[in-house]
Parts: sequence; structure tokens; C-alpha cells
Amino acid sequence: MMKTDLAVLGGGPGGYVCAIRAAQLGLRAAVIEEQALGGTCLNWGCIPTKALFSATKLLSQASEAEDIGIAFDSPTIDLQKLASWKNRVVATLVDGIDTLLSKNGVEVIRARGALSSQREIVLSTGDRLTADHIVIATGSDTVQIPPFPFDHPAIWSSDDALTVREIPERLAIIGGGVIGLELATIYQRLGSRVLVIELLPEILSTADLDRRTVSTLKRSMTNKGMTILTNTAAESFETQDDYVVLKTADGAQHCVDRILVAVGRRPRTRDIGLEACGIEVDERGFIRVNDSLQTSVPTVYAIGDAVPGPMLAHKASSDGIRVAETLAQGHCQPSSYDLIPQAIFTDPEIASVGVSEAAAKAAGKATLVGRFPFAALGKALGMREPDGFFQVVADSEDHRILGVQIIGAEASDLISEAAIAVQSGLTLEAIADAIHPHPTLPEGLKEAAENALGRSIHAINR
Ligand code: NAI
Repeated sequence: MMKTDLAVLGGGPGGYVCAIRAAQLGLRAAVIEEQALGGTCLNWGCIPTKALFSATKLLSQASEAEDIGIAFDSPTIDLQKLASWKNRVVATLVDGIDTLLSKNGVEVIRARGALSSQREIVLSTGDRLTADHIVIATGSDTVQIPPFPFDHPAIWSSDDALTVREIPERLAIIGGGVIGLELATIYQRLGSRVLVIELLPEILSTADLDRRTVSTLKRSMTNKGMTILTNTAAESFETQDDYVVLKTADGAQHCVDRILVAVGRRPRTRDIGLEACGIEVDERGFIRVNDSLQTSVPTVYAIGDAVPGPMLAHKASSDGIRVAETLAQGHCQPSSYDLIPQAIFTDPEIASVGVSEAAAKAAGKATLVGRFPFAALGKALGMREPDGFFQVVADSEDHRILGVQIIGAEASDLISEAAIAVQSGLTLEAIADAIHPHPTLPEGLKEAAENALGRSIHAINR
């Protein structure tokens, strides 16, 4: 029987971060992980996607460089080399986590674990671990839809797509959410003809995005040759000699080579002993928690994708830090999901923080809105990245910034200045009056704030 102060079930960006922070604060912490450290984000999600996103950006840049007088021969793609480079990026980061855990004195237990009581975890090795507190950080799994089973060779999960073993000539993607559109971007750049099939009237409808942001992305994707069908349900498929026919509910048939299913993720909360300990889950399988992320059993906390809220790595890490600090210091920092930025790696990228204009209005706020186009930024033109805009939404009374959306080049990096503004309750004036270096992309945020105040220099103020 092993004993520790804190046992963390799951070594993803929620679990390993929680354990490191707890150890920094003097707790004895153990992480139980059955697969690779780093969880979905590092191994099958954010990191491999971003490696492929940046590698394939080279392809699109090379193909467009002729316009500015620089011509390349048609690039060749060595998929094996591409995959092993991406795997090395992942392995480097996974090794890094292993080192960080060990240098912080966190014990890593390589096993599957399940709660056997409110203070005990039973391990697949046969051992038992008792702890004063347990944190459940088991993450989420890809949702399967029965007519499109992942064990069929023509049907891909996002994990299959990230192995980059082949480039299908025609790729259908079921689900126009974040994963579907990020992988659509990668495979379109690799040369696939991409068809996106979305059930709802709009793509990216699970994110709180302005209609203008979504329509800008849609236009850009269709200009690149992708087909996006909304209000369309994928029903079934039939295998032909060397291709498949995907049937949609409107009676249409689409001949494609592979079908990628990206219709959402569900919390991984089954078979981990929740029922035995009386830990409550909601109707969708998410663990019920209070504002301090404590479950219905006071010794057990839950974080990340296993609890309701945005399914994002940085949200899981933030949850993990909050729980570690609560346990070590006895108080919990308040948190709001509005403060969690999101970055979507499409072309152009999208990033947002805080509320959209529509959500602010729905909450009864009178707003001031400012916009500024990338096409008016010298730096963006020099980068040949004129698509997109910055949008700032502020409270019309006190000018506090309520939300920012950016669609355009490097939006994922640009959003952090806005995240500080929203988190710290900064006003439009705080951004507008701060001198931003020229020529840079963040000038767009300053100009959008100035535009909301009616004093943008490089745009006509409304
Ligand atoms: P999602 O919930 O974002 O999108 C799934 C889409 O599939 C929805 O639009 C839904 O209407 C559609 N759909 C469902 N059933 C369908 C059917 N039968 N036919 C056609 N369309 C159908 O889920 P996704 O993209 O799988 O992502 C899972 C989670 O991971 C999300 O919470 C997402 O935010 C998170 N994630 C975030 C990333 C980022 O922030 N960069 C990257 C990857 C994942």
C-alpha cells in the first residue's frame, strides 16, 4: 500500500500541471498515467496538429511565392519524414514533462487507476494508493457515430489523421467544429480535395464567435477550393472498389477516398470508480463540481475535459493550478470561463477572449465596438497576409474591454495582449494609449480600440 498527500489520475495538461504546482507548494504528489505523459494535447491533439499546421504552411507559402517573384519547383512531400519529425517534436515535449515531474519530486505511476474509495485508488498493477486528496484529470475521448466506425480502414478519427500515413485525394470531414476545420486546413495544404459536412446551420457554432468572423473564415476556406456543406447530416457510407460513397440525409452521394469523423469529444469518466464512491456526473458524463472544482465527495476534485466547460488544454492547466493552490493554501482563486482565450488553427487563424458582441448584448450590456482590418497593417501586407480583422467589444459606459476576436495571421499569438486586458478589466484607452511598435501586427489591436473610441488613425471611424 502506497501513501501520498495528493493522487492525480491522468497525466495530461490538467493532471501533470496540478501535480507539479502541488509539489512546488510542499505536497507529496503522485500522477497515475496509463499511456503517454502529456495526454491528448501533447500526443494526439494540440502539439502534433500545430507541428503539421506549421509544416504545411510552408507548402502554401511556396505555392504562392511566385506572385512576388520567387519561384520553387513543385514541392515533394516525404510523409515518413514529416511524420517522424512531428513525432520527435511530441517526444521532446513528453520527455520534458517526465523531467519536470521528477525534478519537482512528483512520483509517476505507470498504470491504469480507478477510485476504490474516497481516498484510495486501485492500480492495474494490483497495488493500491491512498491519498488525502484525489484529483480526477482523465480528459476526454473522441465521440464515435455508429454508421462510421473507426475500425473501418476508410474511416478516420483525428488520431488517424494525425499519423499522416497517406494523403487522400478526396477527404470528407464530418463535423465543422474546431478539430474538423483544423484538419481540413492541414489536408487541403497537403493537396487533398476537402469536403466538410456540418449538421448545424453554421460551422464553429460551439464557439462564441461573431458571424463576421465565421463568414470570413468560410469565404477563405471556399476560396482555397474546399466545399463546406452546412445543415447537412452524414448518414452512411458504402465501399466501392477503391473509394467510398458517403450519403447525406438530403439524398446526396459524395465519392471520396477517406472520411474523417470529428463530431466532438466526451469526458472519459466511465470505469474509473466514480459510482463506487458516490461521485455525481451529469447526463453527458461530465463530473459535477462546485466553484472550487470539488466533486460531490469532498476529498475528490475534478479538472479539465472531465468537468463542464471549454475542452482546452490551457483551461485544464488553469484548473489544475487552482486545485493545487486550494489544497496547499486553503483558498481558491475565483475563475471565469470568459477569461479563457481560444485559438483555432485554421487559415486564417481565429482567436478570441471574453464575450462576443452578440453575447454582450444578450447579457444586456450597451457596447462600443471597434474593428481594424489586417489589410490596413503594413506588417500584414509585407507578410502577404491581408485577410481578417481585429474586433474589440467594450462596455459603452466605463469602456472596459469585454471581449476581443481576431481573425488573421498569427491571431493565436496576438490574443494574449487582449487576454490580459479582459482579465485585468483594462479599458479601451489602456490599449489605445499604449505605444505599440511599428510595423507590427499588434498595432491592429490598438487601432481597433482607437476605432471604438472614434479615433483610429489608419481607418475611417464610424
Ligand atoms: P466540436 O463540438 O467543436 O464540433 C463538432 C461538430 O460536429 C459540431 O459543429 C456538430 O454540430 C457537428 N456534428 C455532430 N454530429 C454530426 C453529424 N452526424 N454530421 C455532421 N456534423 C455533425 O467538436 P470537435 O471539433 O470534435 O472538438 C472537440 C473539442 O476539442 C471541442 O471542445 C474543441 O473546442 C476542442 N478542441 C479545441 C481546439 C482548439 O481550441 N484549437 C483544437 C482541438 C480541439
